[in-house]
Amino acid sequence: MAMLALKCPTIKVIVCDINERQIERWQSDCLPIYEPGLNEVVMACRGRNLFFTADIDSAIKESSMIFVSVNTPTKKFGVGAGKAADLKNWELAARHISQVANGSKIVVEKSTLPVRTAHSMAKVLNANERGIKFQVLSNPEFLAEGTAIRDLEKPDRVLIGGHEDEEGQKAVNKLVWIYHHWVPKENVLTTNLWSAELSKLVANAFLAQRVSSINSISALCEKTGADVNEVAHAIGMDKRIGSRFLQASVGFGGSCFQKDILNLVYICQSFGLPEVAAYWEQVILMNDYQKRRFAKQILDQMFNTISGKKIAILGFAFKKDTGDTRETASIYIAKYLLEDRAKLRIYDPQVPHDQMQRDFREYKALPEGADPEELISICDDAYSACQDAHAVCILTEWTEFKSLDWVKIYKGMKKPAFIFDGRNIVDVEAVKKIGFNCFSIGKPTPESVKMD
Ligand SMILES: NC(=O)c1ccc[n+]([C@@H]2O[C@H](COP(=O)([O-])OP(=O)(O)OC[C@H]3O[C@@H](n4cnc5c(N)ncnc54)[C@H](O)[C@@H]3O)[C@@H](O)[C@H]2O)c1
Repeated sequence: MAMLALKCPTIKVIVCDINERQIERWQSDCLPIYEPGLNEVVMACRGRNLFFTADIDSAIKESSMIFVSVNTPTKKFGVGAGKAADLKNWELAARHISQVANGSKIVVEKSTLPVRTAHSMAKVLNANERGIKFQVLSNPEFLAEGTAIRDLEKPDRVLIGGHEDEEGQKAVNKLVWIYHHWVPKENVLTTNLWSAELSKLVANAFLAQRVSSINSISALCEKTGADVNEVAHAIGMDKRIGSRFLQASVGFGGSCFQKDILNLVYICQSFGLPEVAAYWEQVILMNDYQKRRFAKQILDQMFNTISGKKIAILGFAFKKDTGDTRETASIYIAKYLLEDRAKLRIYDPQVPHDQMQRDFREYKALPEGADPEELISICDDAYSACQDAHAVCILTEWTEFKSLDWVKIYKGMKKPAFIFDGRNIVDVEAVKKIGFNCFSIGKPTPESVKMD
């Protein structure tokens, strides 16, 4: 919405949220999320045509178009628990709009939703006794955290779905007009509602599938002595495959991939397509396997005993350039290591300490009865995290981890010293020369080399 306000100075944009604390932070000098370039965009238009408020009623009344961007997490209980999208927030927002609206409005689905949600939402919205009619559009968001500003400024495409009747198309054209302020015409696609809703789920499923595909091959590389980076480079040069999103890693995280694939799986099951559901579910299973496999590798290499050993965790965000930790691989790896009572020393350049503490509680990552103070230390820099550690695990690909002084780190560590590189950013030969034992995802291991 900040980008929209920046690009369309004649449009007034009001952002509202039920979380008042969140709104206060959007109004302050310290924005609630870390996203490169966002600060500048917000500061350029806040108070001009971009406003933040907790007064949702007034915001609804004042607006002619309402983007609903509430969270749509995976259901935790009831029918579809663990897979289906929880639409509670979306329905509450729709009821709220329906109750307080003072005239017809266009309601835009910005949240990622199951296909055909617009149908249910139109029912909720139009069930008012004042005869007010709403048009529902689907305009899924394709930005990626960490590159959001670039993605919004120059989107590969903007997708807008609407009803094919005259009123529906009028609404579509209004939203197209907004995007045409800065997005070239050929990059604004219009489709029917269901294609737009489904395309978002499918886009995320395809992206996550690529990660799981290359990660599955990383396991085979370790066994055979092939190098996953070389394989990725070789196959990526084929234009039909393409080189992007072929980086082997400790697994994908973030608030969207897993949730959206689970949702897709659930929809396929609901429509009686068990084979299709199983196909996509495998992307998640492979991701879980990769995290487990990485943790097991740590245990195996460290002589099957990590109890009481200090392990530095570098990176807690689910990827670089974000402070977001939702579904981060780090919390799962930490959980596996804590099961064996390792002592973790964690550093991340952007994740606030209290966020990490909340994550340990929310993901139940500590063994029952364990003392968090004894097992987890949160550090202010990479060097203090590595001091006296037996091993270092790189779990987020932060740029600063690419230029660490490994000689200095080695001196401060217990010997034998191990590096477990879950992002393939360390120069393996260079750190081996220093004296490290180094394990990188998808690279030859001592076992695969022995086969020669
Ligand atoms: N985060 C991303 O990178 C990303 C990218 C594309 C799409 N999406 C989709 O966008 C949606 C939102 O994701 P997010 O990461 O911004 O979630 P979020 O949890 O960070 O933010 C959602 C906000 O909605 C507010 N909210 C909930 N119910 C409300 C209501 N009834 N009225 C007003 N405010 C309400 C919450 O307080 C919260 O601040 C999800 O459907 C997600 O799948 C997210």
